Amino acid sequence: MFTATLITLSLLSLTIPSSSSDHQPQSTTDVCIIGSGIAGSSLAHFLRKYSPTTAQIRMFERHPVVGGRMATVTIAGETFEAGASILHPKNYHALNFTHMLNLKVKGPSASESSFSLGIWDGQKFLFKTIDSNSKNQIVQYFISLANSLRMLFRYGVSLLKMNTFVEVTVDNFLKYYESEESRPIFSNVEDMLKWADLYNLTTHTLEEELVGLKFSPLLIQELITVITRINYGQSVRISGLAGAVSLAGSGGDLWSVEGGNWQMAAGLINQSDVTLHLQEEISSITNVGGFYELKSTNGNSYACQITVVATPLDELTTQFTPEISIPERKLQHTYATFVRGLLNPAYFGLNSVSDLPELLGTIESSELQFTCISVLKEHNANDFTYKLFSRQSLTDALLDQIFSIRNETIRINWGAYPHYQAPEEFAPFMLDDRHLYYVNAFENAASTMETSAVAAENMARLILSRLAGQQPLGSYGLKSSTSDSNLQHPEL
Ligand SMILES: Cc1cc2nc3c(=O)[nH]c(=O)nc-3n(C[C@H](O)[C@H](O)[C@H](O)COP(=O)(O)OP(=O)(O)OC[C@H]3O[C@@H](n4cnc5c(N)ncnc54)[C@H](O)[C@@H]3O)c2cc1C
Ligand SMILES: *[C@@H]1O[C@H](CO)[C@@H](O)[C@H](O)[C@H]1NC(C)=O
Ligand SMILES: *[C@@H]1O[C@H](CO)[C@@H](O)[C@H](O)[C@H]1NC(C)=O
Ligand SMILES: *[C@@H]1O[C@H](CO)[C@@H](O)[C@H](O)[C@H]1NC(C)=O
Ligand SMILES: *[C@@H]1O[C@H](CO)[C@@H](O)[C@H](O)[C@H]1NC(C)=O
Repeated sequence: MFTATLITLSLLSLTIPSSSSDHQPQSTTDVCIIGSGIAGSSLAHFLRKYSPTTAQIRMFERHPVVGGRMATVTIAGETFEAGASILHPKNYHALNFTHMLNLKVKGPSASESSFSLGIWDGQKFLFKTIDSNSKNQIVQYFISLANSLRMLFRYGVSLLKMNTFVEVTVDNFLKYYESEESRPIFSNVEDMLKWADLYNLTTHTLEEELVGLKFSPLLIQELITVITRINYGQSVRISGLAGAVSLAGSGGDLWSVEGGNWQMAAGLINQSDVTLHLQEEISSITNVGGFYELKSTNGNSYACQITVVATPLDELTTQFTPEISIPERKLQHTYATFVRGLLNPAYFGLNSVSDLPELLGTIESSELQFTCISVLKEHNANDFTYKLFSRQSLTDALLDQIFSIRNETIRINWGAYPHYQAPEEFAPFMLDDRHLYYVNAFENAASTMETSAVAAENMARLILSRLAGQQPLGSYGLKSSTSDSNLQHPEL
């Protein structure tokens, strides 16, 4: 049976016209990756790392740039993160990529680490930290102490339990960095989560989890809701795991890559000897007798032994033959609006712009048309750059109420992350019993740059182990040399 497959493979590699844009007939590409975000780029990296003999890797990206949801926006002549912005100090793959690629870690600036926070309910501020414009460190220290005490006074001692809840989850997650000898290869998301004791958190909502831990209702409705709305655009009814991850993204020592997080993807692709096809969208994936024919909207067609989908399938129009079946999932859309101008303090019942917090969070309320507003940069007292998140597009009419000056406005509509639920349902890593894979099945656990890299690392090992276990494909390096010999005889 395996021999028969091998023959079919060889025949197909000779008869399928691959890329019609390339001026030579081709044999199969070993691995085709759809998507150039952190998932696709780290998959290419780990495939090369674990199997240096992997032959050709092709990557398809429908946009003119790599990075996907890691992207920058330029406003007021400066660039800012438009999508994924912050990394946790224990995001070790991202940290290693950054070092390996000679990129620079950018820590929070002094103003970002002691920023002022206000919680807005649509009518009034429910909570507001005291702001200081003092540059005196001692003054700053006492003000931040006073702010902590005021927060403790409002939310009670369960505020202190937040850290513990996050730390337990982060520590469990660290198991994914254990050495390959002690860490199994996971063939589905459920097993991967169970092994790190994270699965149970996906069976309850964050709210249920925190009520169970006796968190104060006010803390859940206000501060924690502010955080889940900022990080996932959703309420505390997201899963406990997505909730813990979003709380971890609200702590201190967060970092980003100077000049843009997308450079991690660009660098990994550059170092992994990838044939990159920019502005080429894959429109269909067909299993033709054991391997895959990928067609693109540019009219090209490629034969791939292994095909990996490294993008969410939820809004994708790609045709699969035979059809695949995955649980239905909605993406949460987040509208990122960048404004250069000045907020209107009167809209928030205040007299002066300087009374407005640098981070304005919100609670769940049907009256609210935005989820948060943050200061990205203060150019001068009357000239700021802000970032707003919302679930719907913000109209000019609304923006004209919120802002007294608006010189530049940029809107981005992100299919941002899964709309989380509990109990969570997971799509498979393996979309068929051959070599069609789906990295972003892991996004239902939590969607971050690091979780994408962790899922991609496991996926690289899963692919290589399955190749090793299946005879003709097992001689991975050998197969590629077969392809090469086909290449040398194009007229056959
Ligand atoms: C506003 C926002 C804020 C966020 N904040 C953070 C944060 O602070 N920290 C954090 O860690 N994470 C954050 N995230 C989440 C993070 O961006 C994602 O989890 C992560 O970037 C996903 O990477 P990925 O490679 O899996 O997918 P993507 O980055 O989405 O990559 C998929 C790529 O595939 C391409 N593609 C899709 N279909 C096709 C096709 N048919 N053919 C060819 N190419 C195709 C897409 O164009 C895209 O480039 C945020 C996300 C958003 C939107
Ligand atoms: C990061 O790099 C260090 C040094 O090379 C290595 O010891 C560590 O295992 C790496 N971590 C991960 C998660 O790969
Ligand atoms: C997860 O839940 C199951 C069933 O309720 C329980 O048996 C198991 O001990 C729990 N695991 C962890 C790590 O809490
Ligand atoms: C790609 O990598 C090479 C070294 O391997 C480096 O010289 C070059 O600048 C890199 N290009 C990009 C775009 O990162
Ligand atoms: C913004 O626009 C106003 C007029 O609406 C103008 O007076 C001001 O100089 C502009 N500021 C910047 C920084 O462009």
